[in-house]
Amino acid sequence: MRFLDLPQMISASGSVTLPGSKSISNRALLLAALAEGVTELHSLLDSDDTARMREALSALGVEMIADNGVLRVTGCGGRFPARQASLFLGNAGTAFRSLTAALAFCGGEYTLDGVPRMRERPIGDLVDALRCCGARIEYAQKEGFPPLRIYPSAGRPDGVVKIRGDVSSQFLSGLLMALPLSGAQTRVAVEGTLISRPYVAMTLNLMARFGVTVAQEDGRAFSLPSGARYRAPGRFFVEGDASSASYFLALGAIGATADSPVRVEGVGKNALQGDAQFAEVLAEMGARVTWGENWISAAKPADGKPLTGIRLDANAIPDAAMTLAVAALYAQGETELANIASWRVKETDRIAAMSAELRRMNVRVEEGADFLKIIPPDAEHPVLPALIHTYEDHRMAMCFSLAAFAAPLRILDPCCVAKTFPKYFECLERVTRPAPVIAMDGPTASGKGTVSSRVARALGFHYLDSGALYRLTALEARNAGVDWADEAAVAELAERLDVSFRGDRVFLRGQDVSQIMREERISVGASKVAALPAVRSALLFRQRAFHRAPGLVGDGRDMASVVFPRAALKVFLTASAEIRAERRVSQLRERGEIADFSVIRADLEARDARDRSRAAAPLVQAEDAVLLDTDALGIEEAVMRVLDWYAEKDEAGKAR
Ligand code: DC
Repeated sequence: MRFLDLPQMISASGSVTLPGSKSISNRALLLAALAEGVTELHSLLDSDDTARMREALSALGVEMIADNGVLRVTGCGGRFPARQASLFLGNAGTAFRSLTAALAFCGGEYTLDGVPRMRERPIGDLVDALRCCGARIEYAQKEGFPPLRIYPSAGRPDGVVKIRGDVSSQFLSGLLMALPLSGAQTRVAVEGTLISRPYVAMTLNLMARFGVTVAQEDGRAFSLPSGARYRAPGRFFVEGDASSASYFLALGAIGATADSPVRVEGVGKNALQGDAQFAEVLAEMGARVTWGENWISAAKPADGKPLTGIRLDANAIPDAAMTLAVAALYAQGETELANIASWRVKETDRIAAMSAELRRMNVRVEEGADFLKIIPPDAEHPVLPALIHTYEDHRMAMCFSLAAFAAPLRILDPCCVAKTFPKYFECLERVTRPAPVIAMDGPTASGKGTVSSRVARALGFHYLDSGALYRLTALEARNAGVDWADEAAVAELAERLDVSFRGDRVFLRGQDVSQIMREERISVGASKVAALPAVRSALLFRQRAFHRAPGLVGDGRDMASVVFPRAALKVFLTASAEIRAERRVSQLRERGEIADFSVIRADLEARDARDRSRAAAPLVQAEDAVLLDTDALGIEEAVMRVLDWYAEKDEAGKAR
């Protein structure tokens, strides 16, 4: 899938069972593989990053059998059976760092590589520390970065091993998990600040579950006993992913009421993961947060108050803090995320990516080497619909989905969420309610324009005259001397149309074209350019960008079938060719144009035939659309009919 269009959302509620924690899953997989005995891993995350770890462990000869959602891992007792292997670890940092450290003590020859971005993510501090322990590791290409070649070590760690803690805490975690394989008694001292501390606490906790207890001194030095060995704990349950929970908790804080909050299942009060603290930050911003043993729920602040902006040292929760950067759009006052330099060496440079994409939506942002400040929108700086780039970064895609509470969005390359949460967008759809749409399709002069705009006015909804976009494209092509049959050139013009709708006037590049675009020759051009698939796809997001709160009435030919297939109500308006031609003639005569009934009728039938027979999004009555024949109906009656149908659907929708 190249993109996913999200309509503006108006509320959230419901419950989501979280996928297993990525950080715990990959650590538990490695520890189970290194332990003596069999571990049954329950609720393990099934995603790209864990798949890379499992493939690597398989290549190293570890036996893993999946059975009914449980993975049985037969540990190898500290030595991987394969003495040689070439491992590809994608962009999975947790797998790359921890395997580098473990393999350094395994006595074989291994190569480790990943995607191009992985080759840009530094690993020198870990390699330096491992070399001090006697490991023999070479950089296959660039000094300090993957790919790596690992050879049997030339000795054992002796005394104190120093490691830097200020680039990635995964270096320390990887080293700590690997040291028991060396068999030596070792002390690890962290140099510089230790970032993302909760992840190290998680590592120690998991090592203890697998039988190795590490003594800590003031959180900066760690002692491993000699002869430590990992032992399988039997059954091991992976906690739900607290970083994944952050999106749903934020959705609750933005759009859920206290009696119908958004609840995440799988992580709660006693969470191992530092990112569970995110819920506390939301509470500080005013959200109503409730903690259970194995769940957390969130809802909007009390008394209709907005969230409040926050200044946060986000060093301990770098991943979940990304969610705050987008939640900040709904807060009163600025939000500043400080001490987040590690964002720059993650899946992408997340400070740069987050700033660029927020700015694309017209949001004001200030960024520095290690901070990001978000200034919430106001009347002069509204959030605008935009195409959001995701930089092959799952968290960018998931974070920006929250921006759909402010404006419709197109998320590019949404499948990148598979890194940690393959079913993210399905879960999102289940717990959010989009602004409602009424899709009104029908042939030319069936009365749908008049009926649609009146229905929109009665409901206080936005109105989209999609035909106007095809007309404007035809007009722009004519102005530019582009042939209406030149698909690529017309599509390019459609993509770049500079249009604004103000009341019932339409402006093209600032010029009022309301009248000229309705002329017969432009109608003919519109029907020709509308048959070109590239033009239709160029105009798709422009139409979906009208899908805003409190709701939309869209009028056209493919509103129900293509543009808004999930519309709350779909109406197919029609009338006989005779009646439609009569209406068109009187319309033209009112405007002072000369109109010949038989010419108009022939034109209208030709246009109908083109609209119905074209291959791309032909005019059809959608299966789930209701038919409204206006031959014998006045405008008022037609409007009332649609409003009644909508009221019924709306009631049914609320009841669901
Ligand atoms: O509704 P209208 O007459 O203004 O539409 C102008 C042309 O655009 C018409 O030939 C059909 C085409 N059109 C379309 O193909 N799809 C739409 N959603 C709307 C209009």
